Amino acid sequence: MRKPITAIICLTTTLLVSTPAWVQEQPQIKSTTVDLPPGDSLFPGGKEANAINNNCLACHSADMVLNQAALPRTTWEAVVRKMINIYRAPVDDADVPAIIDYLAKTKGTNEQSRAPR
Ligand code: HEC
Repeated sequence: MRKPITAIICLTTTLLVSTPAWVQEQPQIKSTTVDLPPGDSLFPGGKEANAINNNCLACHSADMVLNQAALPRTTWEAVVRKMINIYRAPVDDADVPAIIDYLAKTKGTNEQSRAPR
């Protein structure tokens, strides 16, 4: 009767006292530096892009907007209104004209040149 109990105690003690090698080897944690491409983090264009950079990057990237098809100015106006009214984008009213100008200039269709002759 005592033998199985002794065996269990011995086994338990062995497991508790001895630490397996894979537990003893602590992983080395090293800090790493990663350089992300700066390209798509902001709208390009310097000062002209300030309004759009200040108001339009909270929910999606500049790249996402710049990869949209070119649109007529009136459609860009509607997109900006949709961001504000439907998606609740906190856009400063004073910045709205500059944002629309930027979009019409960089992603606009030249409506005049497309008009039928
Ligand atoms: C409060 C969050 C928020 C902000 C701020 C925001 N947007 Fe959006 N935007 C969205 C959401 C949500 C969508 C829809 C994404 C989807 O359909 O996958 C979207 C989609 C778009 C699209 C894709 C076309 C479309 O009509 O869905 C464009 C272009 C766009 N936004 C431009 C802008 C511009 C310009 C601004 C700054 C005036 C802006 N967004 C600010 C939330 C935001």
